[in-house]
Amino acid sequence: MTNDIIERAISVIRGNDRGTYTVPTHGLYPFQWNWDSALTALGFGHFDEPRAWTEVETLFAHQWDDGMVPHIIFHQMDDGYYPGPDVWQTGREVPTSGITQPPVAGFAVNRIFERSGDAAAAERARALLPKIHGWHQWFYRCRDPQGTGLVALIHPWESGRDNSVDWDAAFERVPTDGVGPLARRDTSHANPDHRPTDEQYKRYIWLVQKFRSLGWDNTKLHDASPFQIVDPGFNAILIRSCQDLGKLAQKLGDTRIAAESFAMAERGRVALETLWSEKWGQYLCYDRVAAQLVDSPSIGGLLAAFAPISASRGAAIAQRIEKLAQHCNYLVPSHDPSMPEFDALRYWRGPVWLIVNYMIADGLIHAGQQAMADRIMDDCLRLIARSGFAEYYGPIDAEPCGGDKFTWTAAIIIEILSTQKQVA
Ligand code: DGY
Repeated sequence: MTNDIIERAISVIRGNDRGTYTVPTHGLYPFQWNWDSALTALGFGHFDEPRAWTEVETLFAHQWDDGMVPHIIFHQMDDGYYPGPDVWQTGREVPTSGITQPPVAGFAVNRIFERSGDAAAAERARALLPKIHGWHQWFYRCRDPQGTGLVALIHPWESGRDNSVDWDAAFERVPTDGVGPLARRDTSHANPDHRPTDEQYKRYIWLVQKFRSLGWDNTKLHDASPFQIVDPGFNAILIRSCQDLGKLAQKLGDTRIAAESFAMAERGRVALETLWSEKWGQYLCYDRVAAQLVDSPSIGGLLAAFAPISASRGAAIAQRIEKLAQHCNYLVPSHDPSMPEFDALRYWRGPVWLIVNYMIADGLIHAGQQAMADRIMDDCLRLIARSGFAEYYGPIDAEPCGGDKFTWTAAIIIEILSTQKQVA
């Protein structure tokens, strides 16, 4: 059974392999996406390690001079996706988008290196080290201009959780004037009921146009954005990647990058505590423009477990997930199923995403919550067995949603199964 799933997962990844990068899925996402690639590298690491390094190297070959790593690299033109390079207009030789995505690369690269550690891997890791570090420094410089220790997203697409309930109130501030007719393609590849609404898309595009009008100058974009949200999950990923890059730097003998990375991680870890909500027993987002916590119990506040959190926080998050389990059949729903905004099949307003499950489970193991981590990973396997390698899944009936034959779903299942095999 395990070997059969792994074989099927490998064939999904091979089918989406474009040689030096993977596409998330055929049709819906025809380019390279940032965090998809880094998480896919984890999967590659188990069956084709050189290809794992190539995946991350290709991503970082398109890093901007200021350190940002864009969320999409448009390697080859394809008019099946909107908004394409003509909308972004970032002026790059190989076109890219102008915003970023959750920085999982530091975590992924350290993990791939830990498992291999041979001379070839050391050489490739050493070349990536300053690039990933530069990206982490970019975050704290450009997305935390007041030096709070926490970075803000300036566009929902940066979170990866595009249409989360968390953004609803802040999105009221984002206008739609000047946005022409939408040329959406996603709704012809996937069920429109599983995707964000047109109203949300207009606001996504307004933000792109705003940043474009500022020449994609990252010294200006944060303050100019009416959408500045501090997401605990996103910050946790950054904190964890800083910490893991520090460990990698130590192993490779780069004491400066190690010390700087540990210092960034520690500041972030302390600051993350300002997002804790006793009321919900989880972390919450903070709206920097409105200067208040966002009273929305989404998966962003559970993903915070991926940062080094205390055992008591880990226990509280496990308890919170236990409560969610009373209202659904598959963990972890991206929004609390008992809330009126919950929408079982609509992207990040309810469905389960296996990559997020994996990161929450990994964090819970570190925080001493092995039983809940096992339960989450078992649910991942049940979803795959029932509904294949979907982009995401309904938490009540396991409906496969969004795109199918999805690269990172396949990669993360290989990672989960291989890790379980190593433990057994
Ligand atoms: C999309 O197009 O749905 C992506 O999530 C934006 O990056």
